[in-house]
Amino acid sequence: MEIKTVGVVGCGLMGSGIAQVCAQAGYSVVVREINDEFLKAGLAKIEKTIGGAVAKGKMAEADGKAVLGRIRGTTRLEDFAGCDLVIEAAIENLDEKKKVFAALDAICGPAAIFASNTSSIPIIAMAAATKRPEQFLGLHFFNPVPVMKLLEIIRTIKTSDETVAAARAFSDKIGKRSILAKDRPGFIVNLLLIPYLLDAIRAYEIGLATAEDIDNGMVLGCAHPMGPLTLLDFVGLDTTYYIANIMFDEFKDAKYAPPPLLKQMVTAGYLGKKSGRGFYDYTKG
Ligand code: 3HC
Repeated sequence: MEIKTVGVVGCGLMGSGIAQVCAQAGYSVVVREINDEFLKAGLAKIEKTIGGAVAKGKMAEADGKAVLGRIRGTTRLEDFAGCDLVIEAAIENLDEKKKVFAALDAICGPAAIFASNTSSIPIIAMAAATKRPEQFLGLHFFNPVPVMKLLEIIRTIKTSDETVAAARAFSDKIGKRSILAKDRPGFIVNLLLIPYLLDAIRAYEIGLATAEDIDNGMVLGCAHPMGPLTLLDFVGLDTTYYIANIMFDEFKDAKYAPPPLLKQMVTAGYLGKKSGRGFYDYTKG
């Protein structure tokens, strides 16, 4: 089945990026938020990024308009009825996700493929809430979605070969390189990234070095675009804490155990860039 219309559940940081790259690739996009306020903010984010690309001369004004014209915002899941692929990028809460997918199962056509952008929740737990587990997989995007070249495809023990092939073709069309992983906490990237980020917090926690020196070590010594503590602020300390806990629960391996400092910072509301304070202070611009 050819994918023509893509539905995106959630228009936050990830959902807005996913909607944007799909529209840029020529897909018709329906993006849903839970209320008008969040929807307006999400669509404004897309408009700003497209506007920035036009202003920099990286996109023709007419193309920018066409991209925005392909995106329809809604607050109703019923508007996903005509979608061939639905990508869920909503809150990381299994019960909520199961509710969304069970509702979509009744709304969407029988051939529609369902995907979740979750970074940590087992894909099979969501697939099992639908009558189409063969047409269900993980499509894990990376932040910022319009910039990062990777799409991690996660197949469960029930995902069909046809669904994986459709996901690979979709990835090619939106200009991402796809990698395929099994449905195991962390998949490929977070299995490697989370212990690294937690080790950086442990190094900082024991007073090994300043945050700047830890970050510069990896930026200047290993050519990473961001040091680990800056990356933690960028990803969100709450998000990292959440993923680490899921991985620790699954593997019971100390390397995934969130360090006390991470828990303290999350409790204190130091969530990183989005809250104005993480390992660095963003309140002064
Ligand atoms: N949306 C769209 N475009 C963006 C953007 C955004 N949010 N942020 C930056 N860009 C674009 C800029 O417009 C610019 O485009 P241009 O080259 O066409 O002018 C380009 O990206 C570079 O941006 P900047 O010059 O402002 O800044 P940098 O060169 O420092 O790049 C960065 C910013 C791309 C964020 C870079 O620092 C980077 O790659 N950081 C690492 C990001 C990373 O590791 N992401 C993965 C996180 S893990 C994850 O998402 C998984 C989850 O499960 C935890």
